[in-house]
Amino acid sequence: MTTQTLQQLLDEGVDGRHVIVRSDFNVPLDEDGNITDAGRIDASLPTLRALLYGGAKVIAMAHLGRPKGEVNPAFSLQPVAEALSERLGQFVALAGDVSGEDAHERANGLTEGEILLLENVRFDPRETSKDEAEREEFAAELADLAADNGAFVSDGFGVVHRAQASVYDIAKKLPAYAGYLVEKEVSTLSAVKDAPEHPYVVVLGGSKVSDKLGVIEALAAKADKVVIGGGMCYTFLAAQGHNVQNSLLQEDMIATCKELIERYGDKLVLPIDLAVAEKFDKDAAKETVDLDGIPEGWLSLDIGPETAKLYAAAIEDSKTVFWNGPMGVFEFPQFADGTKAVAEAMIAATKNNDSFTVVGGGDSAASVRTLGLDEDGFSHISTGGGASLELIEGKELPGAVVLSK
Ligand code: 3PG
Repeated sequence: MTTQTLQQLLDEGVDGRHVIVRSDFNVPLDEDGNITDAGRIDASLPTLRALLYGGAKVIAMAHLGRPKGEVNPAFSLQPVAEALSERLGQFVALAGDVSGEDAHERANGLTEGEILLLENVRFDPRETSKDEAEREEFAAELADLAADNGAFVSDGFGVVHRAQASVYDIAKKLPAYAGYLVEKEVSTLSAVKDAPEHPYVVVLGGSKVSDKLGVIEALAAKADKVVIGGGMCYTFLAAQGHNVQNSLLQEDMIATCKELIERYGDKLVLPIDLAVAEKFDKDAAKETVDLDGIPEGWLSLDIGPETAKLYAAAIEDSKTVFWNGPMGVFEFPQFADGTKAVAEAMIAATKNNDSFTVVGGGDSAASVRTLGLDEDGFSHISTGGGASLELIEGKELPGAVVLSK
């Protein structure tokens, strides 16, 4: 099974051809609709630039948030069109619809080296439909925009774990190629999955244990250490018998966490101290406490300094690190220390121990940029949150599998 690559498409020649590109422009926005982290947009540029340079008529498409199949201006890709225009140095028009009349007219009107962005594909309920026939119908409409001799380039790595119309079904309707980003992400993350050099340390954060259960099970079998922080560590601490007070807790998962602790023992590394506050507030006074010292009614918002040292030491000794999920509420500067310690230890491990360090997308990638850390200090920063986890976990990614013929 081989996957056709963007390079093969470019070698065939794209001059004057419509090429429809699925990117992941699912970027965070503030209350005013401004993009707060454009990492995914930046990561999409090499593929778009190569196609435009080759003279393609590029039709870019993506989702933003979860508008649940309804047109909702709050989820419009307008800010993305503006960000793309700035970065590409050419105007990126936003179609007034997804696969309707305006999209068709604009796609037909493109000339060589021009780019059009479709409106949020999730404005159409067929994009995420469970009914294959509905998705296929929508995918056919999208493919139609690429007219005769068109091609499809899959470059939204962050969304390849979704069997959705613009990711999966469309790849069966047009000659399909993996874009530079998908190619790079899949090969880099597959190397970590298949042959990590040991010691292999996995660092997991994020709010819900239930979301990470499969990952913990799959990775505990392969890694030397699974280091746990973030919102989900409190359910483990509760399973150890600690009173986590008002910290995030998934009560229905306590028994599962107990089992995991019993099964994997020292392999699971849990906090030994915590940074707590009276309330969930960026200006709340911070205190450091041991595991049984959370004052009544308070909550923990970060791992404590001793925990940060413990985690950093494990990371600095590693030869491979995969990190997904912040260690605390890094958006509040005083509760960013745990996340920062993990990220800095990864940078040190890359430099001093020749460790292969991977940041697995989503919030962890955003935290690296928010905290002003050197992105080049890591071996790889993935653009995919769920996608990178599923790949590392060993699951099949429908949007990648469909590209191999
Ligand atoms: C992501 O943000 O992980 C991707 O863009 C996928 O988005 P989704 O989880 O809403 O499918």
